[in-house]
Amino acid sequence: MFSILVLHGPNLNLLGKREPGIYGSVSLEAINSLLEEEAGALGAVVSIFQSNHEGSLVDAIQAAADQHQGLVINAGAYTHTSVAIRDAIAAVNLPTVEVHLSNIYGREEYRHYSYIAPVAIGQISGFGPDSYILGLQALVRHLKKSTS
Ligand code: DQA
Repeated sequence: MFSILVLHGPNLNLLGKREPGIYGSVSLEAINSLLEEEAGALGAVVSIFQSNHEGSLVDAIQAAADQHQGLVINAGAYTHTSVAIRDAIAAVNLPTVEVHLSNIYGREEYRHYSYIAPVAIGQISGFGPDSYILGLQALVRHLKKSTS
């Protein structure tokens, strides 16, 4: 059974209340329940962690190396700024799928660059909470293929 770490970055704890026109009305708790349900259907298990702090996200990625087989990450605004999170993902060498609720390429110019994309196996952006589900599916499919 694959164990997947799901990381949510800054301000994602406010989902449901935060700019609902952009991020929708679904809470983070509801997204987490959907992820747990989908993981069960895929024969995987998810550990989920949210932090507003860059270093805590780096710590979680480092700790994942021995405990999980893959990573789904929505690094929020750190996507566009954090060399440290990018370097942590490169260091642990875990297959990583980057996800975003909104389509970052349809928004402000400063959201168009992702430090994470070059070290991820792929990116899913713009499908609201489904981005997480699609990201988890893509990661588990990737893991099944690479271990078969
Ligand atoms: C986000 C997009 C980022 O640009 C933004 O800073 C977020 C959320 C998304 O899920 O659409 O916090 O990662």
